[in-house]
Amino acid sequence: MQSVGNNIAVCYNKKMQIIELRNVSYEYPIDSENGIMALDNVSLSIEEGQFVVLCGANGSGKSTLAKLLNGLILPTKGSVFVYGANTVTQDDSDIYKIRSKVGMVFQNPDNQMIASIIEDDIAFGPENLGVPREEIIKRVEWALSVVGMSAMRKHTPFKLSGGQKQRIAIAAVLAMRPSVLVFDESTAMLDPKGRAEVMQVIHSLNKEQNITVIHITHHMEECIGADRVIVMKEGRLVFDDKPEVLFRQYDFAKDCKLELPVIAYITHLLGQRGIVMPEVQTEEEFAEALCRLL
Ligand SMILES: Nc1ncnc2c1ncn2[C@@H]1O[C@H](COP(=O)(O)OP(=O)(O)OP(=O)(O)O)[C@@H](O)[C@H]1O
Ligand SMILES: [Mg+2]
Repeated sequence: MQSVGNNIAVCYNKKMQIIELRNVSYEYPIDSENGIMALDNVSLSIEEGQFVVLCGANGSGKSTLAKLLNGLILPTKGSVFVYGANTVTQDDSDIYKIRSKVGMVFQNPDNQMIASIIEDDIAFGPENLGVPREEIIKRVEWALSVVGMSAMRKHTPFKLSGGQKQRIAIAAVLAMRPSVLVFDESTAMLDPKGRAEVMQVIHSLNKEQNITVIHITHHMEECIGADRVIVMKEGRLVFDDKPEVLFRQYDFAKDCKLELPVIAYITHLLGQRGIVMPEVQTEEEFAEALCRLL
């Protein structure tokens, strides 16, 4: 499926659909009569184990969609289901299920640090969930090893690089054993090295820990390796397909204010000269395809 201008529900039937939005709208109240329509009749399913990139211009509704996924906000219209539980539930066990299944990592790692020693920071979440002490110790060890920060466990997080801090923030969420992780521009404040580090961790969480990933970003090269890219525009879903399909739609992407990777631009320029390149994601694939053409 490609452009979804009419917000048709997207179904991939291979695996279990763990997140489902049915005709969801969300309006931020301004006063008793007016509001800002941030999401407009969005329907969407995400299957277990997928790596989904969510992109779109500033104000297109990405963070609003993210917050709906673990019940931080509730839809004005429509329904959000997480592992079958409706986020509007009054049932405590469903609320617990939704909050514990979907973890969120935000843009600024400094705002996500709580304790002055790394291992205490990571233990904080499971402690709050009432996890037994021995299990917390195991989880802290596991989470630190997954993000490659075991050696720093006794250090303070405040002196780390941006990328390292963000890896600690990811470990802190991981220690709560979520099945889905939503990264809301978690690479936005990082330099290229930090961004690469964090992207590597996010991919390993998806591939090795089977965590479903929803990665919100303005860096379009971070679509590479994703199963699926969803583009939002003015509160609606306007594209849902593989990265290589988006990379071929230069004018559409520009209209959605997306800065596609350079290979997409060159593909576009070649297309204008009558040279049709195959769908590729990476620079290596692009070079190979070009060599074959030559
Ligand atoms: N707390 C709020 N109160 C009122 N309006 C809000 C609030 N948060 C977001 N909005 C509005 O809702 C719309 C969607 O915002 P949202 O933050 O979801 O967009 P976004 O795609 O995440 O943007 P960005 O790329 O800048 O993070 C925008 O028009 C925004 O101004
Ligand atoms: Mg946002």
